[in-house]
Amino acid sequence: YGANELVVGPDETVTTSGDGPRDELAATEPGPLRLEGEGAVVFEDGRVVAVGDGDELAREYPPENAETAVDADGGCVLPGFVDPHTHAVFAGDRSDEFAAKLRGKSYQKILAEGGGILRTVRAVRETPEDDLVADLCERLDAMLARGTTTVEVKSGYGLDVETELKTLSAIDRADRSHPVDVVPTFMGAHAVPGGSDAERYTDRVIEEQLPAVADQGIAEFCDVFCEEDVFSVEQSRRILEAGTEYGLTPKIHTDEFANLGGTRLAADVSAASADHLLQSTDADIDALLSEDVTPVLLPGTAFGLGGEYPDLEPYRERDAVPAIGTDFNPNCYALSMGFAATLACVGVGMTPAEAVLGITAHGAAALDREGGLGTLEVGSPADLVVLDAPTHAHLPYRYDVDAVESVLKGGDVVS
Ligand code: NIG
Ligand code: FE
Repeated sequence: YGANELVVGPDETVTTSGDGPRDELAATEPGPLRLEGEGAVVFEDGRVVAVGDGDELAREYPPENAETAVDADGGCVLPGFVDPHTHAVFAGDRSDEFAAKLRGKSYQKILAEGGGILRTVRAVRETPEDDLVADLCERLDAMLARGTTTVEVKSGYGLDVETELKTLSAIDRADRSHPVDVVPTFMGAHAVPGGSDAERYTDRVIEEQLPAVADQGIAEFCDVFCEEDVFSVEQSRRILEAGTEYGLTPKIHTDEFANLGGTRLAADVSAASADHLLQSTDADIDALLSEDVTPVLLPGTAFGLGGEYPDLEPYRERDAVPAIGTDFNPNCYALSMGFAATLACVGVGMTPAEAVLGITAHGAAALDREGGLGTLEVGSPADLVVLDAPTHAHLPYRYDVDAVESVLKGGDVVS
C-alpha cells in the first residue's frame, strides 16, 4: 500500500493524484489511469488478487490483518524484473580482457586466440559443481537486491557433455535453493572448442550433448551463437531443429557482429526470442515480429564493446517494444536490470516507460512465460519491486545507486 505509482502491465500505468513529474508514456501504451489517493496491490497465496485505489482496497483487505504488509511510502511499485538473457554460471577472471579491449583488441580476436568464452570454458571445466552453485547463488543475491525476480541462465562454458550437464545441474540447484526463479537454457553451441571445427562440433552437439541434456531433463531452451566464425545459419538450424525434437524451445544469439540471416532462422523455427540484433535490418525485424519471436536487446554488451547500439526506429515504426536483458557474463560484468534500463534509454533511445516494459512484461515474453509474469494484473505472480522514488522514470534515471528499496517474491519480502 501507499504507492504513488503502480506499473501494472503493458496496457496501464496507474498513477495516483500525488504530485511529481510524469514521464511521457510509450506510444504503444494508453495514458495512465489516475487514482484519487494512493495505490495498492493485494496478493494472496503468491498471486495478485487486486490492484488499484489504496483506500478502497484497505477497506476490503485491511493491512493490519495481512501477514505481509509493505508500506511503499509514496514510492513506485513495479513488477519484479525478468532478465531474459544471462550467462551467469562462470568461473575464472577475464578482467585483463577488459583492458585489452580498451587497447583496441577486438572481442572476436580474443576468442580466435583461445581467450574469451574458451578461457571461461577451461575454468568451468576445472570448477566443482558445488562451487558453481555457490558463486551463482551469490550473483542471484546481487540480482535480487536490484529487483530481478526471474532470470534466464545459459550453460555453454562446458562445450562437452560432462561440463554442460554439470552447469545445468548447478543452475537447477541454484533455482531450488534461491528465491529468484532461474530459467535454464542449454547452449552447447556457444563457441567451437579448440581442436574442432564448427561442422564436426555441430554434429557432437546434436549427437552427444542434446540427447544427454534431454535425458537430464533440466533445460527448457536451446540457444546457439549464430555468428561469423562461430556457427553458420545452417549449423544453427540443425542444432535448433534437433533441440526442438527433444522438446527444447529455440533461442538465438544473432546479428551481434555480422548479419548472417539468423533472424529469418529464428522466425522459421519459431524461436522464443532472437537476441543482440545490432546488425538487423527492417526486414529481419519484420520476420521476427510476424512470427511472434520476441526481440531482445542487450545494451550492456553494446556499451562494453564500444557503444554502438541497435537502432530503435524500426521497432517504433512497428509499434513494438523490444525486451531488454543484461547479458551478464565475463565479457559484460553487469547484472543490474536498472542499469540495463538506463542504457536502453541513454544508448538505444527508449523512453523510461518502454525500458521498464522491456525488463518486465517483455522480458517474460522472451521466456515464453504466460500467467502474467512481468505484470501486476490480477492473477500475476506476487513478484514486486518497490522503488524509493515516486515514479518508474527514477529507475533508469538513477544510474549508479539504484532506486530499488525492497523486493517481494511470491508475496514474501526477500530483499
Ligand atoms: O551474449 N555472444 C556470445 N555470448 C555472450 C558472451 C559470452 C562471453 O564472452 O563469455 C554474449 O555476449
Ligand atoms: Fe549472450
